[in-house]
Amino acid sequence: MSILPVVTYDDPVLTRKADPVHPEHPGLQKFIDDLLETMYEADGVGLAAPQVGESIRLFVVDADVITEEDDGKKFGPGVFINPEIEAVGEEHWDAEEGCLSLPDLREKVSRPHKIRIRYHDRDFKLHEEEHEGWYARVLQHENDHLKGILFIDYLGAFRKRLIKGKLEDIRQGKVDTEYPLAPKQG
Ligand code: NI
Repeated sequence: MSILPVVTYDDPVLTRKADPVHPEHPGLQKFIDDLLETMYEADGVGLAAPQVGESIRLFVVDADVITEEDDGKKFGPGVFINPEIEAVGEEHWDAEEGCLSLPDLREKVSRPHKIRIRYHDRDFKLHEEEHEGWYARVLQHENDHLKGILFIDYLGAFRKRLIKGKLEDIRQGKVDTEYPLAPKQG
């Protein structure tokens, strides 16, 4: 297994719509293992393929450190291929989110409380599940990466203005992380 360098704002791969994953995608199983290892190395609770420069519809999560706050729920590592998410009900809630592609930035984001997700696991077995609370939030955040959406896209004009300087630092690579970052292009 290997640790993959993480792509940061504003690499174009982060705003691109990712392509569906085919079961015969070359090197898929090793890539999934590398993605999981990279997520653990970076102390992340989720990591999407575009965040390591692969524009394919796949993400991994292990959010047990935060889902334990929701009634001690534990899910362990999860691999989500070609996921589709829809909100269940109208309830939304605010919570602070971070992202390995936006080091040192945390902002409050409003998201649906409960969701339904359809996805394939790493053996391409189809699953349909409902989740709520923190786990649902992590799944939505990672799924957004496959659509080219970052959590900062949900911020209002005022918050956006306040984080402008931080974003510029990230864009220029002026950030310190404990995990390897992909070099800036150009
Ligand atoms: Ni993220």
